[in-house]
Amino acid sequence: MTVANLLSGSGVYPIDLVKRRSEEVLRSLRNNVFAPEGRKTLRRCWNIQEAAKLVGRSAQTIRNTEAAGLLATPPRLANGRREGYSLELINNMRAYFSTRPWRADDDEPVVLSFSNFKGGVGKSAFATHSAQYFATRGYRVLLIDLDSQASTTTLFGYNPDLEIEKEHTLTPYLLGDESTLEYAVRHTHWPGIDMIPSALHFYNAEYEMAAQVSGNVTLLESLKFGIATIADRYDLIILDPPPALGLISISALIAASALVIPVPPSNTDFASTTHFFSMLLDTLGTLRKHGVDARYKFFRLALSKYDERKSTQVAIADVMKRVFGEYLLKTPVKDSAEIDNASARFETVYEQQGPLTSRETHQRCLEFLDGVNREIEILVRHTWPSQQAALREEGLLKENTHG
Ligand SMILES: Nc1ncnc2c1ncn2[C@@H]1O[C@H](COP(=O)(O)OP(=O)(O)OP(=O)(O)O)[C@@H](O)[C@H]1O
Ligand SMILES: [Mg+2]
Repeated sequence: MTVANLLSGSGVYPIDLVKRRSEEVLRSLRNNVFAPEGRKTLRRCWNIQEAAKLVGRSAQTIRNTEAAGLLATPPRLANGRREGYSLELINNMRAYFSTRPWRADDDEPVVLSFSNFKGGVGKSAFATHSAQYFATRGYRVLLIDLDSQASTTTLFGYNPDLEIEKEHTLTPYLLGDESTLEYAVRHTHWPGIDMIPSALHFYNAEYEMAAQVSGNVTLLESLKFGIATIADRYDLIILDPPPALGLISISALIAASALVIPVPPSNTDFASTTHFFSMLLDTLGTLRKHGVDARYKFFRLALSKYDERKSTQVAIADVMKRVFGEYLLKTPVKDSAEIDNASARFETVYEQQGPLTSRETHQRCLEFLDGVNREIEILVRHTWPSQQAALREEGLLKENTHG
């Protein structure tokens, strides 16, 4: 078959056939996430010690308050044991004890983008685990899926093939058909996380924007303005951008008030990330000339998918630590079968009640995920004036976290 036949022929030709077969496979993979009980739910529970830590009160105080009938207790299982605390119960306790970590009204919500034009570096793994880390600690999070591959949308319980129409994505707002982003926000199975979903057709937004953008760079600020219409009810807005340099990924760079760049310490990923920085500087420079000024409250690199068994990776990671200093987050996100196995099931490590591999691997993975997200949490809190006294008290106040 000639290329001309391939492109112009109608009916069944190889690309068409392969497309339809792979859609079938994807549909059955995704259906596994939703079947048989329909809507995804969060089954993860926390024991009283974990709950006490998350709430910021002792286990004894929680037990006493429950005994006084002031707090609901977790339901009992068939064997009489308590099920553990759901995130809803933990959030009720936070409300009762006034220990919610929300920003003050005068503090600005942080718009954090995990950007890198290179594909597969761990942007979505960071975005989804960070969203869940922050929501588990009681913050109000909005997660925006900017990638038409829509894996984050699936992971949060929505089937992009069946449920997400064009009017449910950012497209209507970006094309000027809606005046706020209110219509696109939906709850997820994870208490404290709302999301704006994506689906394959969101890819067209790129072209439709391109058709309108000609000389009108302010269109690239659309996402930023859209986020501003709904930001006041959140502490943190997390962006999960697509790979490649396009209008959507540039819109994410403009909308963000903080950037974390995941970088696997492999030669090819490091080379691409270096190119990403020149493109980033070029793009920001061009935008500035057109009056669009993107500035970040913090900017960090993060070691991602780090495989310590590979000597070249260890060597690159060491160079990165030396060269980037404080701009590199201290905790590396290692290459872990826990993350890979969870994402193969359209889940995260934080959703698991127990290990998918071994207990040690699971524990180690939780340690580095908590570690890197705690660093990000401290950076986020530094941007909020209301948090300065608390950070000082905790010995965490750094005078200069900007840059
Ligand atoms: N730390 C990790 N350990 C093991 N596997 C990982 C890790 N981080 C990500 N992965 C896996 O690598 C693949 C790519 O990761 P992810 O989807 O997060 O990257 P991405 O940058 O969002 O990709 P894309 O550019 O396609 O959006 C996924 O299969 C994911 O499960
Ligand atoms: Mg992704």
